[in-house]
Amino acid sequence: MNTTESLKDYQHVRGLAIQSLFEIIEQSSEGTVIVDGDANIVWMNERYARRFGLKSAFDAIGQPCEQVISNSLLRQVVRNDQPILLDIQDTPKGPLVVMRLPIHDDAGKVIGAIGFALFDELRNLSPLIERYLSMQQELASTRSLLRSRQSKYNFAHFIGTSAATLEVKRRARRSASADSPVLLLGETGTGKELLAQAIHGASPRAHKAFVSINSAAIPHDLLEAEFFGTAPGAFTGADRKGRPGKLHIAQGGTLFLDEIGDMPLPLQSKLLRVLQEKEFEPVGSNEMIRSDVRVIAATSMDLEAAIKRGEFRADLYYRLNVLPIQVPPLRERLDDLPALSEAILEELRSQHELDREALALLAQHAWPGNIRELRNVLERAALLSDDLVLDAREIRAAIGTFSPVERRAAVEQIDGETFSAARKRFDRQVIGAALSACDGNVIETAKRLGLGRSTLYKKMVALGIEQSQ
Ligand SMILES: Nc1ncnc2c1ncn2[C@@H]1O[C@H](COP(=O)(O)OP(=O)(O)O)[C@@H](O)[C@H]1O
Ligand SMILES: [Mg+2]
Repeated sequence: MNTTESLKDYQHVRGLAIQSLFEIIEQSSEGTVIVDGDANIVWMNERYARRFGLKSAFDAIGQPCEQVISNSLLRQVVRNDQPILLDIQDTPKGPLVVMRLPIHDDAGKVIGAIGFALFDELRNLSPLIERYLSMQQELASTRSLLRSRQSKYNFAHFIGTSAATLEVKRRARRSASADSPVLLLGETGTGKELLAQAIHGASPRAHKAFVSINSAAIPHDLLEAEFFGTAPGAFTGADRKGRPGKLHIAQGGTLFLDEIGDMPLPLQSKLLRVLQEKEFEPVGSNEMIRSDVRVIAATSMDLEAAIKRGEFRADLYYRLNVLPIQVPPLRERLDDLPALSEAILEELRSQHELDREALALLAQHAWPGNIRELRNVLERAALLSDDLVLDAREIRAAIGTFSPVERRAAVEQIDGETFSAARKRFDRQVIGAALSACDGNVIETAKRLGLGRSTLYKKMVALGIEQSQ
């Protein structure tokens, strides 16, 4: 029988194949282990024993397989009489591709199992697996980046059941399904950014990025590059490779333009073009990129007044003002105070609660820094109090500069006040409010008030305002 003829005899070929398969596996194996019917190790090669920290394979003999190979599945193979043809096993020295087979006696009864470790460097296994692994890595890092860019808040985080709050939430919810710009108007700390995130989270773009850019926080000469990105070679130095802008990162998702009232005029024109033409050009490039972002803008500025002063483009205002949402200040929705305080204390993981007088006092303060200020006050009070029930005195101390909510009270206070006392009170109120709005950050506060840092410090010392954070 010549070779070709002999290959036609299936039983014979099967015998040959089994033999060569076994030899190939054994030869390319990184390790082999054999267990008996009780899954105790009866044989192991030296190399494999060393991988699991043994000095000699001899030390493994007689031990339950899991004792040596902590996550061994050989016992399962023996018990179920089922092979595990291909699997990945983690070992202290990295993952292995393993194959596990039951061993039968002549009568066909399971008497043990054999495990082969086929490859120890998964990366060498094949270009396919290498590609698979690198794609997995890429996927994991993209996922985690996206997760970090997805919005953290939904509408349930926007606490409050006052009529004003419910109306804000209703409008915001309705805007989520649309794709036109939203304009959030309201004082600082009223929850505009929280709402923007919630709108994004409830929109069809929720699975894409939420990217924010704050025109008041970034130096104006850097804003454009931050916004549109830079083309490779646009600048010398660190940015030579080019950098994607926020507009690019937000592709498919939502771009939150915080403090849009502070956006410089030239950038306003460019933004208008993006909104109208739906395309943009990275700085230093002449290639147009299609843009697909939903814009949510926010400002604490009176934009119509800014238009009159020539500081804001009217056409941009109209383009943004499609779905305006006015977020009322906290002093106009005092009914929300108990729920807000409770939610904030809970979020701070504080065990504290407020007594009745403390709650009443909260309702007498005008909250120029709104919910951000409320949060700071509660955090400070909880930190300073030894008692789990916060009283009015402790809240009063934590508020710092108290601004009474009723205007009448303020007017009465002015009666008979000397000019210098009134001026001091005014200074204290303005600086106090700005400090609360900036979370106690003096540098930010100075910027906001248009004062030099040291001037602000001097004034704070003179007025006895302490830096809270
Ligand atoms: N209705 C609300 N319920 C709970 N927390 C709120 C609410 N509004 C604002 N906050 C919280 O107050 C702080 C300031 O809100 P933020 O959205 O940054 O305000 P803004 O963007 O208007 O300055 C944040 O910590 C935010 O989570
Ligand atoms: Mg804000």
